Amino acid sequence: MNASAKAIINLDVGGPVISRHLYGHFAEHLGRCIYGGFYVGEDSDIPNAGGIRLDVVEALRALNIPNLRWPGGCFADEYHWMDGIGPRSERPSMVNTHWGNVEENNHFGTHEFMALCELLGAEPYINGNVGSGTVKEMSDWVEYLTRDGDSPMVRLRKANGRDEPWQVPFWGIGNEAWGCGGNMSAQHYADEARRYATYCRDHGGNKLYRIAAGASDDDYAWTETLMKAVNCLGCAKEPRGYFQGLTFHYYTVPGPWSDKGSALEFDLDDYYATMVKAVRVEELIAGHAAVMDCYDPKKKVGLILDEWGTWWNVEPGTNPGFLYQQNTMRDALVASVHFDAFHRHADRLVMANIAQTVNVLQAMILTDPDSGALVLTPTYHVFEMNKAHQDAASLRVDVKSEGTTRTVGESELDTFSVSASTKDGRALVSLTNLDADAPLEVDLDLRGRAVAGVRGRVLTADVLNAHNTAEVTDVAVQDLDGLSVEGGMLRVNIPAHAFVTVELELA
Ligand code: AHR
Repeated sequence: MNASAKAIINLDVGGPVISRHLYGHFAEHLGRCIYGGFYVGEDSDIPNAGGIRLDVVEALRALNIPNLRWPGGCFADEYHWMDGIGPRSERPSMVNTHWGNVEENNHFGTHEFMALCELLGAEPYINGNVGSGTVKEMSDWVEYLTRDGDSPMVRLRKANGRDEPWQVPFWGIGNEAWGCGGNMSAQHYADEARRYATYCRDHGGNKLYRIAAGASDDDYAWTETLMKAVNCLGCAKEPRGYFQGLTFHYYTVPGPWSDKGSALEFDLDDYYATMVKAVRVEELIAGHAAVMDCYDPKKKVGLILDEWGTWWNVEPGTNPGFLYQQNTMRDALVASVHFDAFHRHADRLVMANIAQTVNVLQAMILTDPDSGALVLTPTYHVFEMNKAHQDAASLRVDVKSEGTTRTVGESELDTFSVSASTKDGRALVSLTNLDADAPLEVDLDLRGRAVAGVRGRVLTADVLNAHNTAEVTDVAVQDLDGLSVEGGMLRVNIPAHAFVTVELELA
């Protein structure tokens, strides 16, 4: 007997709003993410604006990309922003010690990043340098970007061709301070975060949302130390305003770090082990949120997962320091179950950034280094299919299922995942069937509002490792026909290893 599920959704009872920033992105000076990915230089044959690839911009605009984090990652803590302003030919170069030990010529710097955000219609999330920088350096950067009127940094910005200040809402105070960002203890970093944040001023109308560098995986002690830095245990009063957001990082890595597995060559055991790791993100969000609740019960400090995604061995023949990997139907399903978890925790999780947008780790876009061809990955399509969740009210989904539990090693994996939201007289239901072989029959019991129209879309492929290249597109979105709502019931047949969205027009 095939597995089945019933999912009850009260369309008229909206919960916490799903911030559009949960669909955020991350661009680091790493491998071919910036150079050859976003940025090809003004002399390139590839159509560009000021060196920025216009086809990449167009593809990302179709996702309503809400924010872009830059310049790292580990790179952020060895980046000195003043090296990346002024005439490009005069910018000093440096060695990117984290990522391939290659020379960084600083041709893509502050002005180029802000131009990219303007082209994308995305809000900038700039990650400052705590590990090897100074308080003055970070403070000056904020002044350079956001101050109006007259000041030393304003004069410098104007001399570099930009009169008006930019708006920069999101500011990261270091990255992975427990590791590549300085190998600090939690208490030491908490003190540094308070010190740095003090001098990251709000200039004019620009109000910074300061983001402290948080934990790895389930390091709840790190989160607790940072929360103690802004409020006392059990205190319902407002947290002190040193930082407004606190991060954690979690990558889906089923193997050991020394051999993470291949992006393209995997068996069923590898597939299910990956899914167990992917759905674990919900346990981690809930764990960090529970710690934060003890110090901030009113949820004033936002939890931010500013690095997530799959991390495989690099593609054979590519630079091990460039983290270039292919992207399959398996990666798409990792993304879809992450989003379900994000939606369910929209009360505390306010931002998430997939690592990384182009040519690195779980990318949306791959570009061919020789031909320059642009490829949309399966993961790209999950972001596109889900974009109506951005800024929508989450809808609770109560599920009763049969035959969707599978034992994987010592874990129990539920192979059905679902989430829903509503906005502007419409609702979007996202459904994932993780079962590699069997389809899933789902009855949606839609209550509280009448449904005037329905549209289904599906992302799947013949095989789990299906992927797209410049030559062949094996994973693309298709219509899911034959859907109709009768008496508030909607049956959705989800193929094996598939992601489905159902858009409802509410009467
Ligand atoms: O995304 C790649 C790297 O992973 C980032 O630079 C770092 O923050 C993390 O360890």
